[in-house]
Amino acid sequence: MLNIALPKGRLGEKVYNMLAKAGYACEEFDSGSRKLIFTDEKNGVSYFWVKPSDVPIYVEHGAADLGVAGRDVIIESGADVYELLDLKTGVCRMAVAAKNGYTDDLSRPLRVATKFVNIAKNYYDGKNRDINIIKLSGSIELAPLLGLSDVIVDIVETGTTLRENNLSVIEEILPLSARLIANKARYKFKQAEVTAVVDKLRKELDND
Ligand code: PRP
Repeated sequence: MLNIALPKGRLGEKVYNMLAKAGYACEEFDSGSRKLIFTDEKNGVSYFWVKPSDVPIYVEHGAADLGVAGRDVIIESGADVYELLDLKTGVCRMAVAAKNGYTDDLSRPLRVATKFVNIAKNYYDGKNRDINIIKLSGSIELAPLLGLSDVIVDIVETGTTLRENNLSVIEEILPLSARLIANKARYKFKQAEVTAVVDKLRKELDND
């Protein structure tokens, strides 16, 4: 039996469909229900609906053998897991953005609003730039508009949110997409089963 943590929401549903097509369907699976665990004995798989940012935690602790999470979530969590496959979906990027026409004032620390505190700290450490982090949980784009921060470190997908708020990308940090991750010990104990999932998903991705 393989236990797989899926991120609740559109990405999780999309990846479940990929897994179902690869032979890991679950008869009782219903993304609209409030149930959190779905098991299919015949296909040897059990799915858990997990809050997206918690997926690496479930996998790191072995509550799930495998999981699906954005690269942003994996890096930010710092979880000690194996990254097995780029699922080529949920493609976006982590970037620094600011109000159109913004110029940095190097004489003082940069005020950075973000949900991704660790990614932002690492990025500016690498540039030797002093920063003050303002941790927010959503609608990060508001911060520079209201003078709460100078810049934001956030996910950009289509760029619409930035455009509609007179903000623009000033630096690219990381390309992002959904990844299949594995618990390190389970990867060894269940190697045949895990390798089979990875191979089947890879084939599906190659045929797309
Ligand atoms: C994410 C991200 C941006 C937006 C980018 O927010 O934080 O705000 O999507 O997408 P776009 O480039 O296609 O406009 P999300 O919708 O996850 O909500 P949030 O504001 O709660 O973070």
